[in-house]
Amino acid sequence: MTPEDQRKRVEVCFSPSQFHLYRTDFEICVVIDVLRATSAICSAIAHGVQAIIPVSTVEEARAYQQQGHLAAAEREGQIVEGFEFGNSPYAYMNPELKGKIIALTTTNGTRAINIASEFSQVVIGSLNNLDAVSDWLIEEERSVLLLGSGWKDKFNLEDTICAGAIADKLIDSGKFKAEEDSTIAAKFISRSARDNIFAFLKASSHRRRLKRLNLNEDVKYCLTTNTLDVIPVLRNGQIENLHS
Ligand code: MLT
Repeated sequence: MTPEDQRKRVEVCFSPSQFHLYRTDFEICVVIDVLRATSAICSAIAHGVQAIIPVSTVEEARAYQQQGHLAAAEREGQIVEGFEFGNSPYAYMNPELKGKIIALTTTNGTRAINIASEFSQVVIGSLNNLDAVSDWLIEEERSVLLLGSGWKDKFNLEDTICAGAIADKLIDSGKFKAEEDSTIAAKFISRSARDNIFAFLKASSHRRRLKRLNLNEDVKYCLTTNTLDVIPVLRNGQIENLHS
């Protein structure tokens, strides 16, 4: 147990639009986009993709493509025309992608990662690698900002559930404390959802959006906790496994 006053802070920032209010006080930023960017990135790294290059715009992804790189692009939940794949975690299980470097742009997730890149340590969090990331953060014992990617700068439930679950575990370890109401709210939302996240999110905006696009299998995959033990981190502009 760390003495009370020496505990590190862990806080939740609901969306990139509030990042400026939190950015200066933390050593590690964990970026979360449960549906689906950070879940897809965890899937890619777990299935042997060497690195993901997160880019904010479709134009940047296209430039990588034109230089002969593999590139993926998603907007509004759909694969952008001209790209072979987008943001489905299943797309990255393809053995042909093992050892490859892929540029990826998504509506919110890669933008949030790039906003967070001013931190010297950026980690990719999802429900799939919830315990792996939480256990590592507890060992590190450095202050943590949990950044939800949201939807177009708005709050979203799924990222808040994941951020709240990580914050809860960190606080439970006795090494961390939270001071912001956003963190307390995220923790309680996550506790209310944890017995059946899929049902809890039934009416949520992005789940409805993905259902309309027939992407329910992706949603189920992304909402399943602790299926992967990877810890993807941003290093020199590329996301790789921490232990690679
Ligand atoms: C995003 O980055 O906004 C999402 O991952 C959207 C999606 O579900 O593809």
